[in-house]
Amino acid sequence: MTGIMPMLTLNNQTAIPALGFGVYRSPPARTTVAVETALANGYRLIDTAAAYQNEVEVGSALSQSGVDRAGLFIATKLWVDDYGYDSALRAFDASLGRLGLDYLDLYLLHQPLPSDFDATVAAYQALQTLYEQGRVRAIGVCNFDTGELAELLARTDVVPAVNQIQVHPYFSQPDIRTFNLEAGILTEAWSPIGGVNRYWPNSGELKDPLHDPVITALAAKYHKTPAQVILRWHVQLGICAIPKSVTPKRIAENIDIFDFSLTAPELSDINALDTGIRGGPNPQEITRS
Ligand SMILES: NC(=O)c1ccc[n+]([C@@H]2O[C@H](COP(=O)([O-])OP(=O)(O)OC[C@H]3O[C@@H](n4cnc5c(N)ncnc54)[C@H](OP(=O)(O)O)[C@@H]3O)[C@@H](O)[C@H]2O)c1
Repeated sequence: MTGIMPMLTLNNQTAIPALGFGVYRSPPARTTVAVETALANGYRLIDTAAAYQNEVEVGSALSQSGVDRAGLFIATKLWVDDYGYDSALRAFDASLGRLGLDYLDLYLLHQPLPSDFDATVAAYQALQTLYEQGRVRAIGVCNFDTGELAELLARTDVVPAVNQIQVHPYFSQPDIRTFNLEAGILTEAWSPIGGVNRYWPNSGELKDPLHDPVITALAAKYHKTPAQVILRWHVQLGICAIPKSVTPKRIAENIDIFDFSLTAPELSDINALDTGIRGGPNPQEITRS
């Protein structure tokens, strides 16, 4: 698989795999095996976060895998409790220590903190320092809306390389994706196959894109699964998707998407499924604990 993984280019010319592997809600006891399985199947981009409490287990998988560090792309995130300049630098060191690494490929602010945007900016300035020191190859944000991105761009010097947001066929956030594109920021999709619509407590009210008739019809046409059709849609839109699974068969399935293509009308049909209804909490309402 590794040989055919397409790469995308970030705004600082750093290459990032077009598809990665997420570990949110991956229980620590299952995370090392899940990441080892992902690496064995050809994933090289691993997306974790301090808040996921499984950086140690991700690090174990990395060190045991035998994959050359230069071939890996490891991303983690700074949680809002550590926003502010000095606290962000300390949290970075702690994450790096838990991962057992001496540099990161991508370090992200996990959320904006609208109630203290000054602290959000200070945290991002710490990320800039880490970037300038060469301790991280690229920096970015998650869950920023267009207004927050505009304010961050106005107040800081390094344009984020990535804005990681919820994107799946039922909530595809075209406005933020357009802003990202025009600013040279790569959109990374969390819950790319609609996981949040299944696992979040209000999920009974939300539809599952894996069961959408447009998706299932395309899956039948291409002899692929619904998850593979949706992940292929991301790849063809130039969105970096990071599906999560602890199930070996699904981990293999989710990367087996580089042997078919959706047509332009089929991509449009999936684009048209957007409901504008978010799964899970609104990131704008998250506060410090
Ligand atoms: N920045 C943020 O705020 C943020 C928020 C959420 C997530 N993320 C990142 O994005 C990653 C992915 O998002 P996500 O975990 O929310 O959702 P997701 O990847 O869309 O979906 C994961 C869920 O779908 C199941 N699944 C995986 N592959 C499947 C397949 N082929 N067929 C059917 N079901 C399948 C998984 O179950 P099993 O594991 O049981 O197989 C899991 O319950 C996260 O792991 C995390 O790294 C970031």
